[in-house]
Amino acid sequence: MARTRLALLGPPGAGKGTQAKRIVEAYGLLHLSTGDILRDEVARGTDLGVSARSFMDRGELVPDDLIVDMIRGRIESAASGFLLDGFPRTAPQAEALEGISSLDVVISIDLPRDEVVKRLTARRVCVDCGQIYNLAFRPPSNPETCDACGGRLIQRDDDKEDVIQNRYDVYKASTAPLIAFYRARGLLEEVDGMMGSDGVFERIQELLAG
Ligand code: AP5
Repeated sequence: MARTRLALLGPPGAGKGTQAKRIVEAYGLLHLSTGDILRDEVARGTDLGVSARSFMDRGELVPDDLIVDMIRGRIESAASGFLLDGFPRTAPQAEALEGISSLDVVISIDLPRDEVVKRLTARRVCVDCGQIYNLAFRPPSNPETCDACGGRLIQRDDDKEDVIQNRYDVYKASTAPLIAFYRARGLLEEVDGMMGSDGVFERIQELLAG
């Protein structure tokens, strides 16, 4: 695959994390999820985690300068390619990224608000390996235990319905404009997130092969 610098766009719950795991395994890219990095900072109680937490708990975006400082070095050292998941999320972040690295393709996965709420209220995540489940669409054998590693499954703090609704509004206001930004640069590919996980992944593989 010639395209090794990828970014995923899409509303909360569109399946970015689910597809990111499959893409990086298949193509040997570094998975850079700003949400996962921030949750790790919060769990470790770092200065960044303490600053970020109140924004995340409300479903608001963490300030651009903190995010760009956090991700810059990781992108620069991803020599064999990267998949950005959750970054960029604002016009200033997209502009900052242009000063760090170019992109080969931006894949936008779309999903309507009612499906976002349905998916995220049923999401469970493994505290140990990060495997993502869904009690409705991809249930684990035991609702409290990860099938992959036996770790404990939890509900994310920001997967409460009022916070999900705000995250969707924030996506529409701040991140959705990046679709036009990347279309204008000839980098955008769009995928319908309503397909099942396998259907979305097949479509992404077709795009990356093309
Ligand atoms: P982040 O962690 O990036 O969250 P998000 O973008 O809201 O996305 P999610 O992780 O909720 O959803 P996803 O698209 O990955 O869906 P998933 O694959 O899990 O960000 C969290 C917070 O951090 C932000 O609110 C902000 O505060 C901060 N932040 C992060 N990046 C930032 C940035 N750049 N700037 C500023 N602030 C930032 O799937 C969802 C569920 O659906 C799962 O249960 C899954 O099993 C299921 N599912 C997936 N695909 C399918 C399918 N095709 N069919 C049926 N079910 C499916």
